[in-house]
Amino acid sequence: MHNLKKSLLGVATLATAFVLPVGLLGGAPAVAKPDGPSGAAAGWQPKTLRQAAPDGFVIGTAVAGGGHHLDMPYPDPFPNDRRYRHLVGKEFSSVSPENQMKWEFIHPEQDTYNFAPADAIVKFARQHGQQVRGHTLLWHSQNPAWLEQGDFTAEELRAILRDHITTVVGRYAGQIDQWDVANEIFDDAGNLRTTDNIWIRELGAGIIADAFRWAHEADPDALLFFNDYNVESIGPKSNAYYALVQQLLADGVPVHGFSVQGHLSTRYGFPGDLQANLQRFSDLGLSTAVTELDVRMDLPAAGASPTPAQLAQQADYYQRFLEACLAVEGCDSFTLWGFTDKYSWVPVFFPTEGSATVMTEDFERKPAYDALLATLAAARS
Ligand code: G3I
Repeated sequence: MHNLKKSLLGVATLATAFVLPVGLLGGAPAVAKPDGPSGAAAGWQPKTLRQAAPDGFVIGTAVAGGGHHLDMPYPDPFPNDRRYRHLVGKEFSSVSPENQMKWEFIHPEQDTYNFAPADAIVKFARQHGQQVRGHTLLWHSQNPAWLEQGDFTAEELRAILRDHITTVVGRYAGQIDQWDVANEIFDDAGNLRTTDNIWIRELGAGIIADAFRWAHEADPDALLFFNDYNVESIGPKSNAYYALVQQLLADGVPVHGFSVQGHLSTRYGFPGDLQANLQRFSDLGLSTAVTELDVRMDLPAAGASPTPAQLAQQADYYQRFLEACLAVEGCDSFTLWGFTDKYSWVPVFFPTEGSATVMTEDFERKPAYDALLATLAAARS
């Protein structure tokens, strides 16, 4: 379905690129959109990432809130930082709640849901014509104490997960385009997390298929994903997903996508087989996506400025990541894990690293931003 959508969008784009005879493509003469390829040829230059993106390709950001922000000396970013909010609407065509839909945030007590922050993001997205990526339903981390430390039977846990998925996915049915149903279920060696993931530990691997089934029942239109880090390359961890999704597809489980988070560091080489890796999942009929891209670097001191060479290397990584996604049919969603260093999770987790996003703390565009803008614009023509 998703690939078909992209093919049809491709036809529409071609229709604006060439003068077509009246009657072709539904009868009306093709009229060049001011922001279409022919507009670009006439000198039109995109000013924002979402303007630059080709039709059918969404460029997203995490929406800052919860998680590490709770410990920081600033108010909750999304509701309070007007400049930040303005840029979320202007620059991006997809949003992902950074923490606001995670269990500990949206389901803090067994009988209490906290929907307001997630509702606000979904409403903002609707007002700004943005897609939403839901994150996340089955994960080993950021679960509430009542769940992790509760003394539940297997039957009770299963009912808890089913109720949660049905309630949360159902609440936003029709408003969330992609859900990260299962997040980070394998370790780096490609073994299922049978100790730290409460669901897999207590209920066995079969719970993964059930989570997808329940999410699909609650919103048949949402694309349902596996999402993980360190799966950019072909290796033990991505191979484990490759084997699992083939099994689930053969069993008729509603799995629609595989997404790579993309938390990179300039310490390490670029994952040069990213495109080939995405392509093999696409060849299974799945959508693919980039969901949490950032590129951190070593800094001499906290908050120190990177060198021009570091910024150039970072821009190169961002650009190559985007090019790999653009080159794969069905990789239509490309999300940054935040776009300003002001709110990045990186220095909190990696105290000697930082500058991981495409804008400075003052929202100045870095070379990485310019590289994304130019790459998106080039992909339109
Ligand atoms: O739960 C502890 C709490 O007990 C303690 O008192 C407090 C003291 O600092 O820390 C709490 O943990 C925080 C956690 O969020 C839970 O809210 C961590 O410090 C904080 O660093 C953490 O941040 C979030 C992180 O996920 C948690 O894993 C970040 O905001 C968020 O950006 C990050 O996002 C994840 C994606 O969801 C999945 N992929 C990786 C990505 C980056 O880690």
